[in-house]
Amino acid sequence: MGKVYVFDHPLIQHKLTYIRDKNTGTKEFRELVDEVASLMAFEITRDMPLEEVEVETPVRKAKSKVLSGKKIGIVPILRAGLGMVDGILRLIPAAKVGHIGLYRDPETLQPVEYYFKMPSDIEEREFIVVDPMLATGGSAVEAINALKKRGATNIKFMCLIAAPEGVEAMKNAHPDIDIFIAALDEQLNDHGYIVPGLGDAGDRLFGTK
Ligand code: PRP
Ligand code: URA
Repeated sequence: MGKVYVFDHPLIQHKLTYIRDKNTGTKEFRELVDEVASLMAFEITRDMPLEEVEVETPVRKAKSKVLSGKKIGIVPILRAGLGMVDGILRLIPAAKVGHIGLYRDPETLQPVEYYFKMPSDIEEREFIVVDPMLATGGSAVEAINALKKRGATNIKFMCLIAAPEGVEAMKNAHPDIDIFIAALDEQLNDHGYIVPGLGDAGDRLFGTK
């Protein structure tokens, strides 16, 4: 059964406040999203398997540990998920990056897939799907459907801000998936925006309207 983890580390909460602030401009918003993604990646990789190796220090030989070659795939949901990729890659530079293009139809709020490109060894990889926002949950549910349909079996989902509605939708559709969030907000408004949220993540990251 998947679990929901809320990262309430003080650094994450501090940076999230400035991410939420409507007066934070594009440059700073992008930098803060990148930093929070790094901090979250530090927590999310806590269970990565290690193996013992021998290392020769300037003093003597010693037994020490390295990651045991786990294959990681980072999958941003386009567009806003892109803002979280570099922050994660900084900690896991050998990870491969797949992309899923989804947009939310503004009338129906249903996700529409327009792009899908993954590393070829999809069955063997552990995937971290990233998107700053989990609102109705439609996009995340659909992105994970798309990955599972192509053979992925080991998937985590990571976002900055989630609405309770989105978490419920994910738990119903994908009860096997762990969800990692920086803040669980109050609710959705009539336009499917998270309240209080941060507004439109894609527009704020890329300076569009
Ligand atoms: C936003 C956000 C998520 C989605 C969340 O993307 O980045 O992908 O909405 O909403 P949901 O949980 O109700 O599906 P949007 O569709 O605005 O596209 P963009 O990233 O290209 O701006
Ligand atoms: N997508 C966003 O970018 N923001 C929201 O609040 C909901 C969906």
